[in-house]
Amino acid sequence: MPALLPDPWHFPRREFAHQILASLNSGLVNSIALFAPRRMGKTQFVLRDLLPAQIASGGDAIYFNLWENKSSPESVMIEALRGHIEILKGAATKRTGKIASSIDLAIVKFSAEYGEELAAKNPVETVAAAIRLWAEVLRAKKQTGLLVIDEVQHLATSDKFVNFTAALRTALEGSADCIKAVFTGSSQAGLTRMFYDTRAAFYGPGSQISLPRLGNDFIKFISTKASETYKPIFATQDVADVFEQHNASPYFLRQSLNFAVLKGLDLKTAARRVGMDLYIELGLQEKWDALSIVEQAIVQFIYGKQQLYTENTRNWISSIAGEEVTPRRIQLAVAKLERGDWIDKTLDGKYEIADPVVTAYIVEITDASLSLGHEEDVKRSHSKKLHKK
Ligand SMILES: Nc1ncnc2c1ncn2[C@@H]1O[C@H](COP(=O)(O)OP(=O)(O)O)[C@@H](O)[C@H]1O
Ligand SMILES: [Mg+2]
Repeated sequence: MPALLPDPWHFPRREFAHQILASLNSGLVNSIALFAPRRMGKTQFVLRDLLPAQIASGGDAIYFNLWENKSSPESVMIEALRGHIEILKGAATKRTGKIASSIDLAIVKFSAEYGEELAAKNPVETVAAAIRLWAEVLRAKKQTGLLVIDEVQHLATSDKFVNFTAALRTALEGSADCIKAVFTGSSQAGLTRMFYDTRAAFYGPGSQISLPRLGNDFIKFISTKASETYKPIFATQDVADVFEQHNASPYFLRQSLNFAVLKGLDLKTAARRVGMDLYIELGLQEKWDALSIVEQAIVQFIYGKQQLYTENTRNWISSIAGEEVTPRRIQLAVAKLERGDWIDKTLDGKYEIADPVVTAYIVEITDASLSLGHEEDVKRSHSKKLHKK
């Protein structure tokens, strides 16, 4: 588990962590996939709530983030597992000789199975081998291990990872008695693809859940924290509005509070600036400009939670594009936007903006307070933005 500095602004979600561990320990499912768009708090939840809960209950845990080294997820996992097993061995030797010897036994048994020489030279060459070894150690210690893979949909992004993914799945199946897995994903489509791509279930469709949105308790917690920490008092309603405007992303709220204090701005102005700054920093401006007018319109319609395939919407898009836009063309644009990570299908089959930064940007260009449901405003902001160039 990575060492973490304390975060006094962390709003714990202990109950949700316990729920997840309880379903895994019940044996009904061996893995759970946890979905939420970017910057909604998946990593924070896993590192600060879920893993500590697992450790506190006497279990063992290991965490990987596949975005840490996108080109070789396998080596990230092998390194981490190797290091982890070394630490377990070390700790066991210090504590009691008995456990240490049973771990050593596990390793000897493992070596015998894999051939003495090979095991001695390269004890854990593959992730499958590393997981099997970890499982042996866990069985020897009569513990359960929690394996967390952050941004697991990354495995579905390249054919290069197909074999590795299959091997990982098989290894987890073989160790399901003592290793439970939690996967996180920021792309609903990516997660679903992983489920269908691999022949046997990487995780069952029933064990895909959404990370609950933070709500009023979180807003209260952050408002109180802010008034304790900073001189200016932020109205709870402003905090709530800014939070809602940015799709309930805790990241934006915290950045905005900080920016408001640093620059002496009111919270709403600060929130808009934070959204824009991040947007530019991530190079999204160029990517947005590279979208066609139809694609841009679709992103905005999805933001406004408007139906895409109605006559009305199509007329609208046609009038923005200045030519007849067919349903087929809308379909193709939607597919392209999905591949480009602009939008994502949620569990209930609707589309939403994949990244809260994009949402913040759209809020900015459509003058949030006006746009929702007001087609005139959507059109005006379109012309404002699109005809500027
Ligand atoms: N429970 C929480 N309490 C307070 N702040 C949080 C919480 N969860 C997330 N955040 C803030 O949001 C930021 C983004 O969260 P993160 O877990 O990295 O999102 P994700 O992994 O979904 O992209 C964190 O760096 C932190 O500032
Ligand atoms: Mg993350």
